[in-house]
Amino acid sequence: MTGENRNLFQNRYQTAQTPVSSRLPGFYELPIGQRREIVMGMGRLDRGHTHQLGDFGTLSAELVDVFIENGVGTFAMPLGIATNFLINGQDVLVPMAVEESSVVAAASHGAKLARAGGGFQTSSTAPVGTGQVQVFLRESCDYESILSAERQNLITYANEGHHRLLARGGGAQNISWRYIEALKSLVLYVDIDTRDAMGANMINTMCERLGKRMQELLPCEVGLRILTNLCDKRIARAHCKVPKEALSNREFNGAEVVERIEQAYLFAAHDVYRATTHNKGVMNGIDPVVIATGNDWRAVEAGAHAYSCRTGVYQPMTRWWKNSDGDLEGDIELPMALGTVGGVTTLHPTSQAALKILGSPNAQGLAEIVVAVGLAQNLSALRALASEGIQRGHMSLHESNLRLAQQKGAQRH
Ligand code: MEV
Repeated sequence: MTGENRNLFQNRYQTAQTPVSSRLPGFYELPIGQRREIVMGMGRLDRGHTHQLGDFGTLSAELVDVFIENGVGTFAMPLGIATNFLINGQDVLVPMAVEESSVVAAASHGAKLARAGGGFQTSSTAPVGTGQVQVFLRESCDYESILSAERQNLITYANEGHHRLLARGGGAQNISWRYIEALKSLVLYVDIDTRDAMGANMINTMCERLGKRMQELLPCEVGLRILTNLCDKRIARAHCKVPKEALSNREFNGAEVVERIEQAYLFAAHDVYRATTHNKGVMNGIDPVVIATGNDWRAVEAGAHAYSCRTGVYQPMTRWWKNSDGDLEGDIELPMALGTVGGVTTLHPTSQAALKILGSPNAQGLAEIVVAVGLAQNLSALRALASEGIQRGHMSLHESNLRLAQQKGAQRH
């Protein structure tokens, strides 16, 4: 603690006289231990309960402060391995960070069903993200001709200073635009191949540079300059086939289960309430891998749901159908902005371990694994829902959760 920080702490936050106010100027400058003291001093946390704020786990105090402002601890999340995944002929172990007890078991079960038909076949586009630069024209001008003539120069300008990215085959590749009449606003769309980085900072930096250039080219004010999370040029796909024999259970034969799963998909395709839950089940598989690898799951969620609305009607993220042999086939296609280098992915020790467990894929490989897990998760949920129901399997796994909660409740009373 620096002398200055110590004064800050003594003058403003001495626990005995701490006012109960959430105005805590300088809080961010204090070491974690002092921040905890302040929270306790405000009567918000019993001294005996600071352990609930966690130790640093695999992080250090320094990393906590890098990852978050005003850090006071860590939030532990279980990490499990989903098994049975065969993706493009390769066996893959899938680390998943999630607190819902049935998720890893269900992903593994879905992968086992798909394995019976040869596993998952996946593909993806190049990792091209898109940024937006909003421009308000002060007076009318022939922006169409100006921008068309300048397009290549703008791309070169955006790429300046990104030699390493260009050397790896990445960088800004295309610029397009459209005019939004209702806003009297021109919007530039910049497509940037970010290679193995998720690339948010890279895209935002390029957009801000292009914003400045716009002011030189056009009579305009510049509005927002930011990436879009609807990265519909950065797509990952997975497909699987499940022989009907693999789907039979106590209640139904395999052919019946195939038809019931197809019906379950059609229900989601025709009913937005069901589509939302169907897609929640898909994200049950996707988010835990995104989290375990240190990627931005809010960005992935935003992109996945927006993409599911691309026809104007919110649709299921997966499709299931009975093929001409009477077997089940399914596929998934989602935007997937993931990185395997940079940011949390590089700094978080557990993300590094997760990527190693996955076989050190590049960004495209990781995106493909992630959508395959989403498809497996959905398959498992639909198989259960369309036959014995979800509660039998779900509740047997959830039981230990409930038992623990009851024990804790009893201790409290
Ligand atoms: C529960 O977390 C997810 C499910 O509701 C998904 C679904 O209904 O398809 C089981």
